[in-house]
Amino acid sequence: MPKDSAGHLVPGRVSAMRPVPSRIRRPEYVGKPGPAPYTAGDLYTPEEIALIRESGRIAARAIERVGEAVRPGVTTEELDAIGHEFLIEHDAYPSTLGYRGYPKSICSSVNEVVCHGIPDDTVLEDGDIVNIDITAYKNGYHGDSNQTFVVGKASEEVELLVDRTRESLNRGIKAVAPGRQVNVIGRAIESYAKRFGYGVVRDFTGHGVGRAFHSGLIIPHYDAAPQYDDVMEVGMVFTIEPMLTLGTHEWDMWADDWTVVTRDRSITAQFEHTIVVTERGAEILTLP
Ligand code: MF3
Ligand code: CO
Ligand code: CO
Repeated sequence: MPKDSAGHLVPGRVSAMRPVPSRIRRPEYVGKPGPAPYTAGDLYTPEEIALIRESGRIAARAIERVGEAVRPGVTTEELDAIGHEFLIEHDAYPSTLGYRGYPKSICSSVNEVVCHGIPDDTVLEDGDIVNIDITAYKNGYHGDSNQTFVVGKASEEVELLVDRTRESLNRGIKAVAPGRQVNVIGRAIESYAKRFGYGVVRDFTGHGVGRAFHSGLIIPHYDAAPQYDDVMEVGMVFTIEPMLTLGTHEWDMWADDWTVVTRDRSITAQFEHTIVVTERGAEILTLP
């Protein structure tokens, strides 16, 4: 069921939505077709940043917990259950659950899936990779992070892709400084990825996050200058979440309208942090 004869992923069966106790506050978009228009900007007070850090830590710990369960034989639906329960135990709402109709509490993106893979009955196999993307909503603030995990042992080419994608995020974070345009982030990421001939996904980007899941601020992962010239300011909060591929940066969408796959079905990895711009650079808000 999980793969066709060419070894490509095929859609699995998606189970029912998991319940969230009524004591846990929902984001405003749950039960609606989409979020309300957001106009409150991307700047936060130190008190608000502490709350985003709290949500971010819960998301990061949930990803750690899910990562410990990644092994050959586990289904992505089982991973979703682990992430869901962890968030609820920590009084956080899984931001993806009911976001524009998304049906699950985590995104699980396997092999050629660029992002937004829906947990289902797909069984992970030795040599696969899986990205776990979790956003936690608590006290009115979202914290958004993801990591790619190797299932068992992968080929050297794939292990290197995963390590270098993690490093590309670190380089993007190091490019953050007040007074610079946000397009310096993608320049740092793309120039590093290009050394290895990797594809750099352009159409899915980092974003402002905090009061809203996606604020409207866009952070490209390629060198988009002179476009995307928003100037970074102390207290600005956004994600950086590069997706690198062993082939093309182009993509196809599955019929579920969520799952994004590389057009050439090449393997792709991603890492994400939520950061705040500080006087000295950036502080990561999604550390465990
Ligand atoms: N967490 C993802 C991001 O990094 C967004 C997932 S939206 C979903 O922006 F609806 F696909 F879950
Ligand atoms: Co995310
Ligand atoms: Co994000």
